Amino acid sequence: MTRLSLPKRVDGHDRPQAVIAPSILSSDFARLADECKRMVDLGADWLHVDVMDGHFVPNLTLGPPIVASLRKHTDAFLDCHLMTTNPELWVKDFAKAGADMVTFHLEAAAGPEPDDWHSLRPDAAHPAVVDMCHGVRAAGLHVGLALRPATPVELAVPYIEQGLVDMVLVMTVEPGFGGQSFMADKAAKAAVLRKKFPDLLIQVDGGLAPSTIDRAAAAGANVIVAGSAIFGAPDPGAVIRQLRESVTAAAISGKAPH
Ligand code: DX5
Ligand code: ZN
Repeated sequence: MTRLSLPKRVDGHDRPQAVIAPSILSSDFARLADECKRMVDLGADWLHVDVMDGHFVPNLTLGPPIVASLRKHTDAFLDCHLMTTNPELWVKDFAKAGADMVTFHLEAAAGPEPDDWHSLRPDAAHPAVVDMCHGVRAAGLHVGLALRPATPVELAVPYIEQGLVDMVLVMTVEPGFGGQSFMADKAAKAAVLRKKFPDLLIQVDGGLAPSTIDRAAAAGANVIVAGSAIFGAPDPGAVIRQLRESVTAAAISGKAPH
């Protein structure tokens, strides 16, 4: 059984309710429990946990032992974004550590070699990706499917249509580092999914801030990850509110494409 439930779409909205997920990558890791509590107190819905293996991306961050430590200090929804090759190796460890959702990269699930993702097709589900989705659910976790900026969004469709994923993460920077510039044309990929799937959770991650949120909101995103824009702000609570207001306004006015 999954520990915490996912947001739903309410009447009059064109997407599920807004979720604001500060990325702890931008927090002070030496004070992680306090930083997480601060974000939840300021209105964060989820905490976004960036897991990097130094292989899928050129950076190293954290893994299941830190999630397990953090779980002792917070009841918050832990949204774990795995930027790793062989993501299937880590699912059980994250479940045991107390994660709520595992989002893995479609490109990595297709196989361990950098070119393996070229075998993905928009009209047929890849067996390894299907197995990965089943594995995450079987571990009692919600399932997220992440796409690098260069990956065509249509490649996610077979898994959504088969009901295998709860959320698609559209990366709006090249994964690996916080503080990069938002790629508006990549956020536009969300619109393709929103048009087909009004109830799907669509997450955007990378460069989200009060100055860029309207582009992502207009494309239909409802789960907003922000690291530097929240942790680096003098008033992080005000940024969380601004991000939520932009998404909710777009959801009500139906700014997303129909
Ligand atoms: C990048 C990570 C992001 C990162 C976002 O690889 O997946 O979650 O923390 O940081 P900002 O919001 O600073 O771009
Ligand atoms: Zn992330």
